[in-house]
Amino acid sequence: MKKISVRDIQSKKIQKDPITWLTCYDYSFATALNETSLDLILVGDSGGMVSLGYKNTNPVSLDEMIILSSAVRRGAPDKFIVGDMPKGTYEASCEDAIKSAMRFVKEADCDAIKLEGGVQMAKQVKAISESGIPVFGHIGLTPQSANSFGGYRIVGRSDLEKKKLFADATALVEAGAVAILVEATPDGLARELAETFEIPIYGIGAGSGVDGQLLIFHDLLGIYPVFRPKFAPCLVPNVLKEFEDSLKDKDDLNEYGRTTRRDGFWEITRLAVEEFTKLVKSGTYPGEENVYL
Ligand code: KIV
Repeated sequence: MKKISVRDIQSKKIQKDPITWLTCYDYSFATALNETSLDLILVGDSGGMVSLGYKNTNPVSLDEMIILSSAVRRGAPDKFIVGDMPKGTYEASCEDAIKSAMRFVKEADCDAIKLEGGVQMAKQVKAISESGIPVFGHIGLTPQSANSFGGYRIVGRSDLEKKKLFADATALVEAGAVAILVEATPDGLARELAETFEIPIYGIGAGSGVDGQLLIFHDLLGIYPVFRPKFAPCLVPNVLKEFEDSLKDKDDLNEYGRTTRRDGFWEITRLAVEEFTKLVKSGTYPGEENVYL
């Protein structure tokens, strides 16, 4: 499948074809994602929690993110990969921001980077964009600064917070961001942003009507035992019958197992990812049970 480009991302907004986006943090799962119709991969700093076992994303280092990102690139050569800038690697100056972003591109072959923050990070977004690296913004709940919001919570329920979200999105658009991710907002608010701005507005826990949906890969597969938010469905049960049916043809079994090697969790993963893309493209996800009011 041909790798998507920044121009395709923009055209999909115009064509009202929602983008499907998942996180990934390692080589083997990336090979499964590479064989699906998924549009984008985020190597999120959430990898610090689900793969490295930190209790939040704050401790994740740039070196760790580069290791995770380059493993994902080796597994998914055909996917557009967004590397997530970890806390402390871009806030202090535009110079820091450009240097950190360059590492994702030069050492891990990422296609773009994502960073958290709106108005306050607009200078950094502009500097990175002008250095030739596409930037995805991230507003709403921004986990790296969760302490300043009083913890992980839905953002945008008050008029003040709504206004701030619009101001943040405006600043990112003016700074040259290619797309904006909105996290954990009440249903309808991110849709308004998507209707207002010309660049794509994607959501994670931000309800329906946006230009694309992101989920954490470990939530989709139900493999992070600590926590799963209500907007994140585990899709493994949806595909088990299809998986079992695919095993019924035993002709290709040899003494080492199936010659296709599609007899285990790799194939279940691939099917669950395709299920996610189907649900997003058909507008079935997010359902009422997956949105915040
Ligand atoms: O790191 C990540 O996966 C993220 C999402 C929570 C949006 O930034």
